[in-house]
Amino acid sequence: MPRPVLIDTDAGVDDALALLFALQSPELSIKAITTVAGNVGVHDCTLNVLTVLRLLDLPASPEVTEGARKPLRRSLFSAPEVHGTDGLGNVRRSLWGGRGEGPFRRDAVNVIIDRCLHFGRKLTIVAIGPLTNIARAWNKNPGALKRVGRIITMGGAFRVPGNTGPVAEFNYYVDPEAAAIVLNSGLPVTVVPLDVTQELVLMRTELEVRAQRKSSRMAQALVKFTKSYMQYHSATEGFSGGYLHDPLAVAVAIDPACVQTERVHVDVECAGRFTRGMTVADFRRKPDRKRVSVDVATTVDHNRFFKLFHGRLWG
Ligand code: BDR
Ligand code: CA
Repeated sequence: MPRPVLIDTDAGVDDALALLFALQSPELSIKAITTVAGNVGVHDCTLNVLTVLRLLDLPASPEVTEGARKPLRRSLFSAPEVHGTDGLGNVRRSLWGGRGEGPFRRDAVNVIIDRCLHFGRKLTIVAIGPLTNIARAWNKNPGALKRVGRIITMGGAFRVPGNTGPVAEFNYYVDPEAAAIVLNSGLPVTVVPLDVTQELVLMRTELEVRAQRKSSRMAQALVKFTKSYMQYHSATEGFSGGYLHDPLAVAVAIDPACVQTERVHVDVECAGRFTRGMTVADFRRKPDRKRVSVDVATTVDHNRFFKLFHGRLWG
C-alpha cells in the first residue's frame, strides 16, 4: 500500500524536482500539497506547484493549498538569486503553455490538521520549505499533529557551514521560530540537513543527456527550469550542476535507508545577532531523556539515492 504523504513546499527549483520525484513514486500517495513563503512569495510557490502538476498529466492531481505569506514573527527573506524571481528559473510562464492557473485553496493550516486527523500514524509530512505552516498547525491543534506518523524536514546545518550566512541553512534561517517549535514539539521528526543534501549534486551534463534520451515534455521543462539554478551553483560553488536538497527529503520518505540518522536534541538559534537559524546539537552525548530529541541524518547512501531518484524521474 502506498504511504499517504503531505508535501509542504516553498516551491523553488529543487522543490520542483522533489515534487516530480514524489509524484512519480508508487510508494507514496500524495494526499495534499501545501505552500509556504520561502524561496519566493507564497503565491509564486503555489503557481509553481500547479505548473509542476501540469507537466505530469496525472489522472488525478493532489489538492493544492496556499499557506503562510510570511514567517511567524519576521518579514520574509527570499532567494530569487538562487531560484529566479518566479521561483522556477524565470521560465514558469513558458511552461504553462498558456493554459492559465489550476485550482487551489488558501487554508494550508486546516488542510495539514485535516490530513493528520484523517490518516493519523500512516501520514508522513515532507516539509521542504520554512516550517511556518507546520508550526502554525501545531499551535492551532497539537492533538491533531500528535497523530502524524513522521515529519521529514529539509533544514539545518550541523557539521558544515550554512548556505545563508556562515552558520545557517536557508529554511531554518527564514523562520527560526517555526523550526524551533517543530524540532522541540516532541513529534516524530527526521531532519535532513545540508550535511547530507550538499553531497548530492545533479550535474548539468548528466541532466541534459538523460533529458535528451527521454525527450518528454517533462524532460524538456526540467532542462529549462534548472538552468539558472545550475548557473548560480556554477558561479558560487564552482560546478555546473545543482544541489538536490529537497529530493533527498522525498527519498527518505520512500526509503529511510537512504540516510543514517543520529538521535539528538536540537536547538535552533532565534536570538543570536550573528547566528539566526543556526542548528545547535551536541552529538558527543547520548540523548537526555528529559529533553526532546529528533533524528538527524548524518550520512547518505549516494548510490541508493541516485538509483531511486533517476529511476523515478526518467522511468
Ligand atoms: C533549502 O533552501 C531552499 O532554497 C531549497 O529549496 C531547500 O529547501 C536548502 O537550504
Ligand atoms: Ca525548498
